[in-house]
Amino acid sequence: MKYADFLKTYFPEDFVDQLIKAQEGEAISGLRINRSKCHDLGLFRMLEKHPFVKQAYLFDKNIHAFGKSVYHQAGLYYIQEPSAMLVAELLNIKDDDYVLDLCAAPGGKATHAAQFLTEDGLLVANDYNYKRALALQENIERMGIKNAIILNNDVKKLAEKYQGVFNKVILDAPCSGEGMFRKSEEVSEDWSLEKVHRLAKLQKELILKAYTLLKKGGILIYSTCTFNPLENEEVVKELLTKTQASLISLPEVPNSKRGLELKEALRLFPTDYPWEGHFIALLRCNDEHQRFDLKVNKSNIDNQSLKLFNDFVRLNLNLSFDKTRLYKIQNSLYYQPKNSLNTDQLKVLRLGLKLGDFKSKHFVPSHSLALASQKKDWQKVLELNKEETQQYLKGLTFTHQADDGYALVTYNSYILGFAKIVQNQLKNHYPKALRRDVIL
Ligand SMILES: C[S@@+](CC[C@H](N)C(=O)[O-])C[C@H]1O[C@@H](n2cnc3c(N)ncnc32)[C@H](O)[C@@H]1O
Repeated sequence: MKYADFLKTYFPEDFVDQLIKAQEGEAISGLRINRSKCHDLGLFRMLEKHPFVKQAYLFDKNIHAFGKSVYHQAGLYYIQEPSAMLVAELLNIKDDDYVLDLCAAPGGKATHAAQFLTEDGLLVANDYNYKRALALQENIERMGIKNAIILNNDVKKLAEKYQGVFNKVILDAPCSGEGMFRKSEEVSEDWSLEKVHRLAKLQKELILKAYTLLKKGGILIYSTCTFNPLENEEVVKELLTKTQASLISLPEVPNSKRGLELKEALRLFPTDYPWEGHFIALLRCNDEHQRFDLKVNKSNIDNQSLKLFNDFVRLNLNLSFDKTRLYKIQNSLYYQPKNSLNTDQLKVLRLGLKLGDFKSKHFVPSHSLALASQKKDWQKVLELNKEETQQYLKGLTFTHQADDGYALVTYNSYILGFAKIVQNQLKNHYPKALRRDVIL
């Protein structure tokens, strides 16, 4: 069966024809401002504002190469499909929520969720695909997020450990991606009815697991970027039938549609706006999920490492750290979130903010520490000119007059990373994986 014929069994024929036509057009791209870093919205004044998401803009990627800009590297914004931005926006995250994003890579919804949290809140971002989880890690670090635990596990594994822990859970499920057909021919050619059924079965398993992770009164947001009801309404109905969960009505989004039978859910189609489209449903947990006694990982830093780290802090930073939150994993040092969780038996990529590594009796700060800092946190800040910035982001060593020692590196006052000055030579510490030509 063809994708269009399949959809016509659920939606009016002329609507499906319009949908297919809309997918043949060029999709608009979106970018969401990182409120903790970008203080000059003038940089985006030429762009159209997102119709429903605050501090988000729309752009044509054939005209603007925002992904290649120095400001992208500096974490001023996250490039995200415009309909996907509604997911975290509609979750009503409170600043001290414990938020879990189960299928988080590459991090669109997770980095958005983090924007609503203060250090009293916690973000746990997970993805079971290792390569994708690394991309998630890169994006969380680029955005300067400090209070996130990044995990690389199957949803089932998390459900065994974190039952009843979270106020908010995001399940942006793996799906057949019908909304992405215009972007990717590969996705559209890979579509089959058998795949839809297989994914629907998986999504039903995942939503039941996701639900158990919530506290009573907590909220689950279920989303996909696909249109067929088997992967959307039918999955939500599975949860409604098997638990006491209840649907919460999502606010009106002008010109969008409601769920089939489930009027509380939202359906965003490319016929409504030039976006790819999403299905979104919000569910309240009305069951009591028994919580296990989870002891926070106790600080395990040894005296020698603590001394090296304290020496580094004294010489380079204007910050102090709560010793009880320092945690060593092999040679790396982390600053656990204020409200951290035990992570025994899980595959952990980041336990809060990675501060740096111990290398042959020295403490070397990490790129993530630089990007999560503010200029006032460092004793030495080097503002680079255009040419130096290009060199720095390519990973080159060059001459720069400054006192010896570690320094934060900025361009136009925005933080790019850090470097070490040795006899007026700037030793480049920009991570190899991120080195590239950028547009200034
Ligand atoms: C739609 S994508 C997520 C996109 C992401 N939420 C964002 O906004 O950037 C679905 C993700 O689910 C992950 N995934 C699939 N099955 C999973 C499972 N059983 N446990 C954890 N992650 C899973 C995939 O690796 C994929 O990255």
